[in-house]
Amino acid sequence: MADYVLAIDQGTTSSRAIIFDSSGSIVSTGQKEHEQIFPKAGWVEHDAEEIWTNVRDVVGQALGRASLQAKDIAAIGITNQRETAVVWDKNTGKPVYNAIVWQDTRTQKICDRLAGDVGAEKYKAKVGLPLATYFAGPKVVWILENVEGAREKAEAGDLLAGTMDTWVLWNMTGGADGGVHVTDVTNASRTLLMDLETLDWDASIAADMGIPLSMLPEIRSSAEVYGKDREGGLLAGVPIAGILGDQQAATFGQACFEVGMAKNTYGTGNFMLMNTGTEIVPSKNGLLTTVCYKIGDAPAVYALEGSIAVTGSLVQWLRDNLKVISAAPEIEALASTVDDNGGAYFVPAFSGLFAPYWRGDARGALVGLTRYVTIGHIARAALEATAFQTAEVLEAMNADSGVELTELKVDGGMIANEVLMQFQADVLGVDVVRPKVAETTALGAAYAAGIAVGFWSGEQDVIDNWAEDRRWTPEMKGEERDRLMRNWKKAVTKTFDWVD
Ligand code: G3P
Repeated sequence: MADYVLAIDQGTTSSRAIIFDSSGSIVSTGQKEHEQIFPKAGWVEHDAEEIWTNVRDVVGQALGRASLQAKDIAAIGITNQRETAVVWDKNTGKPVYNAIVWQDTRTQKICDRLAGDVGAEKYKAKVGLPLATYFAGPKVVWILENVEGAREKAEAGDLLAGTMDTWVLWNMTGGADGGVHVTDVTNASRTLLMDLETLDWDASIAADMGIPLSMLPEIRSSAEVYGKDREGGLLAGVPIAGILGDQQAATFGQACFEVGMAKNTYGTGNFMLMNTGTEIVPSKNGLLTTVCYKIGDAPAVYALEGSIAVTGSLVQWLRDNLKVISAAPEIEALASTVDDNGGAYFVPAFSGLFAPYWRGDARGALVGLTRYVTIGHIARAALEATAFQTAEVLEAMNADSGVELTELKVDGGMIANEVLMQFQADVLGVDVVRPKVAETTALGAAYAAGIAVGFWSGEQDVIDNWAEDRRWTPEMKGEERDRLMRNWKKAVTKTFDWVD
């Protein structure tokens, strides 16, 4: 048997391939960034063909760096930025429009129209999600309504739709030449179109949206063989056997298998997921109900999720748009030039506000400014924004689940930031725990694929391989925490009602 599993992580800013050994340790990686396209305020797009080329390149990099070949790889797992939607012609393999990214807010009017008199919670009991610009379904609607000829072609059965897992899988398995058109339950649960009970597309919602069912991929479990890499591919013949949306993959990689276990990932946005077992728990506090994973024929496991649109991408914005730093890690040094935020609060509502507010009309605000405030305070306020938003999600999570979290497992790029992690523990009032392998997203997808082909025997292997690296314990006094959270919530209210 081959000794390794390869995971493809098609993320918001880059695509990566990571090869793991049976202990869950990283053997080799490849990574390539893709262009972020901002055609208008609130619009965010990716070139799906560029992404597919990058995916192939990074697989080559990862294999090359470890001098490995297809025969060394037991299975391939795919994990991906969720909700980003692409529509393509199944005969040519060409997208009819750029992929519309999860952060894009152009579908607000479509969401309002669908909500009608019933309101944003119209489909929530079935799909677990409010009608919001974040989700994939309305993005497909926008393409059908705005790209010339798209609706006719879709109705003739020539167009396929998918999230990035589906796009990558279809291309890997042959594209126009017999590609497999499939998604997994976790990605499907981010479309507004999947019934959480039946785990199938809801025909009435699809009809409401005007999306022909023929465009939608088949929904499968998160761990089974979907197909094999195409002939002539670098991994020709290797089974593709795991698909999980990136946040669900991280939850799996963090071994959150028991009810009440949760993780928080610090990426371009932040996403906290709590395992609720086989029970579908509706949220009363602004969280999402989503599928956590489904391993082969075993029943689906669900999660409550708190999604925050902008955390790490605020640091990127300070780097790319304001140019106050030249590399993202410099934010920590800048924030360390001051002891506190100097009264400044930065609410990065660049894509409106997601959990727990779901305000499509919100836009970013920097408030509490005086002449005392320096760039150090603003850097600090930007970091603190991540922690405050997470604290609000944790409050909602505790209220919805009835479980008081006693510690939070963390992963993602920003967890290298010590200032942020300490502040996070302080405002949460619970321990923050970092695992030894921080690449839990790719690892989770690798585990799903490896379990499907018998490379790993099951969840116990994931638990055995998980190890703690570092723990931050709260040091802040309760009154100070309360004062900061009070001010933060006040700052949030200043972002509402900004869309003409
Ligand atoms: O829901 C969006 C999320 O899946 C994106 O994750 O890590 O690519 O920012 P990331």
